[in-house]
Amino acid sequence: MYSEKVMDHFQNPRNVGEIEGASGVGTVGNAKCGDIMRMYLDIDENGIIHDCKFKTFGCGAAVATSSMATELVKGKTIQEALQVTNKAVMEALDGLPPVKVHCSLLAEEAIHAALWDYAEKHGIKIEGLDKPKSDISEEEVEEEY
Ligand code: FES
Repeated sequence: MYSEKVMDHFQNPRNVGEIEGASGVGTVGNAKCGDIMRMYLDIDENGIIHDCKFKTFGCGAAVATSSMATELVKGKTIQEALQVTNKAVMEALDGLPPVKVHCSLLAEEAIHAALWDYAEKHGIKIEGLDKPKSDISEEEVEEEY
């Protein structure tokens, strides 16, 4: 059912954790299953993503896609990171079963939410980035956690 890469990233997820003093933090919920994802980005003054970490209350597919997504955005510019769509992540993982495609959206949306947070903190606008629809407040997360 799952590719070897999915199993590898699920069993040995990369970049799990938090970044203290992160440049941008995004927390999103999956409308379909209610699972939660938080993404931390460390972005330097040249707009390069130096580090990316995640925490999730999501399923195995959410863990694997987020793990791969963090690997893909590290070292990238903000504009390049916007190209790391859930489709790109799934391709990098050699696919996901159709019923698990919605899980891969968590990582993409959380990256966008973290970039939005970064842009707001710096008073800038990121070309091609819309306000995340499923961003949830800290209070809601504390209740869920
Ligand atoms: Fe919720 Fe996969 S079932 S993220």
